[in-house]
Amino acid sequence: MQRWLISGASGQLGGHILRALSHRRPDDYVHALGRAPLPGAHVTEWVDLRSGAALMELLQRAAPTRVLHLAAVPPVVAESNPASCHALHVGAAMRMAAYAASTNGWMLYASSDFVWDGNGGFHDEGDVPLPANVYGRSKLAGERVVAEHGCGLVARYSLLFGFPVNQRQTSWTTIAARLKRNEPVAAIDNEWRSAISLADAALATIELAAQRHHGLVHISGSSAMTPYEIISMMRQEMNSVSEIQRVSRASFSPNMIRPRNVTQSNSRLRRLLPGFEPMPLRSALRTPRGAVPRFSVIIPVYHGADTVGRSLAALADQQFDDDDGLQASDVEVLLALNDGRPDSEAPAEAHVASLRARNFHVRLLRTPPTRRAAIAAAEAVAAAGSHRLYLDQDARLSPHALSAIFAALTTSTGIQFAAPRARFDPSPSLVVRAFCRYWCALPYCDASPVTMGAYAVSAEGRRRWGALPQLASDDKFVRMLFAPKERLLLTSESYHVVAPQGWRELIRARRRYLRGNRELARASHLAPPDPVPRYRGVLRPLLRPSAWFDFAVFVAAYGATWLAESVGARTMRPS
Ligand SMILES: NC(=O)c1ccc[n+]([C@@H]2O[C@H](COP(=O)([O-])OP(=O)(O)OC[C@H]3O[C@@H](n4cnc5c(N)ncnc54)[C@H](OP(=O)(O)O)[C@@H]3O)[C@@H](O)[C@H]2O)c1
Repeated sequence: MQRWLISGASGQLGGHILRALSHRRPDDYVHALGRAPLPGAHVTEWVDLRSGAALMELLQRAAPTRVLHLAAVPPVVAESNPASCHALHVGAAMRMAAYAASTNGWMLYASSDFVWDGNGGFHDEGDVPLPANVYGRSKLAGERVVAEHGCGLVARYSLLFGFPVNQRQTSWTTIAARLKRNEPVAAIDNEWRSAISLADAALATIELAAQRHHGLVHISGSSAMTPYEIISMMRQEMNSVSEIQRVSRASFSPNMIRPRNVTQSNSRLRRLLPGFEPMPLRSALRTPRGAVPRFSVIIPVYHGADTVGRSLAALADQQFDDDDGLQASDVEVLLALNDGRPDSEAPAEAHVASLRARNFHVRLLRTPPTRRAAIAAAEAVAAAGSHRLYLDQDARLSPHALSAIFAALTTSTGIQFAAPRARFDPSPSLVVRAFCRYWCALPYCDASPVTMGAYAVSAEGRRRWGALPQLASDDKFVRMLFAPKERLLLTSESYHVVAPQGWRELIRARRRYLRGNRELARASHLAPPDPVPRYRGVLRPLLRPSAWFDFAVFVAAYGATWLAESVGARTMRPS
């Protein structure tokens, strides 16, 4: 358990961090600085951080293991009162850093993209800053005292956009209110920022703190935009007819020098947090205000050029009939591309637009290879407390499947694990079709229920395991963590996967299946054996004479698989 002390907790970033912390690290203790009690904090108190004695007393009393120094004054206030700004941005940082260094603790110092002189573009952490105003100079001085103590991380935030989680009045809320009333808005058109959403910045901050990273990192979005472009996009998304008046930096704030181009590269951030991908402005604007996804769909994509469109198109076609039930805006789709191949990315990206147009939250993650790493990266950014659907790239859900799964996991019936009925697309091969028919009719398929491309667990159920173990059949491992009465087959819904195209492919798939089962049997210390008997009722489909041919093929496939495995094992045995 960590003890957090968060200055500036009532601010816009502080509010998002408090909310995300309570979801992601519910066991941690949070001491927040604010003038009134703040949701997500165990204790809120007000301390003017410019007072050294009050701050030292607070640090001794709160004994934090993680300090986030977010408190700041805005640039225009800094310009009019440099001494006060220095006391908060530098003096307080120095005391916190000394405390962290002497207690083997860790702190994060919130700096700003205003440390740049404005003549560069997409700066990385190795570039030399040269601030042009009081605010930037004080932030740079604060960075240096923290770096000298070597006790944590300096995070240089770019422009933060989005609504606050509390009732705070910010530039964003003011602009949104004017756009809503169709009133004119002034916007700077000669200043470039790599803006990032408050929600993403909060998520990155918490992950960096949890992992105790040191040094310097830019917390920034991926593209350069002017405030004029940002506000114009807001206007478009809000269907406003407000006039957006272009103004220059100089006329917007005549008493302060605003740098021209302060864009920052986020490559280091993405290296430190594999899979982290800041949401582009337009998708963030389409995310309903304050909406946190309740259902996360995780799709690992490997060599998916031909198949990924199946799962994504079916998602984009999902029906949400019940006004009080699940909506697309409750669902996040996390596409974890783990083969590093552009030919997988292009088809995935082609479907992202149609998902976003329907209001789904979508994130494209580029992750290290392996399915396990892809799932881990997606889970690291998934909304805390959401139900999870693990979907194969070729699994085509029936149109009401998402709503039905969500309802099954949400109603208090004790169901923690659910899957729609598994189905194969027709194979061109007669014998494969016969095998698939017989296999799908086995009582075991419904009773377990089988998971060959889609299974879901409730938010509560997800707490049963940490990281997935190194197993080929991770789906079965997860299923075995749930008692049969906690599992549900959704008989009204289905998903279709691509069937083997011929006999050889079928036998290869069966061999992989057998090996996965054997590996799982050896890993019984990780999950109890499945109490659902696999072979019970295997002859039952034979009651229908039409199934006799299918049965013959089924037996032949079993025999061929067994033979291939025995021969394979013998040839691999050392002489
Ligand atoms: N917002 C951006 O676009 C942006 C861009 C780059 C960097 N940053 C940096 O990111 C951090 C968070 O920004 P933000 O936009 O969330 O800030 P914000 O909304 O302006 O909040 C500032 C916070 O600092 C507190 N504070 C001010 N003076 C204080 C004092 N003397 N003692 C104690 N607390 C004091 C405020 O408390 P009260 O409200 O109660 O006065 C408030 O909680 C800041 O360090 C900022 O410099 C922000």
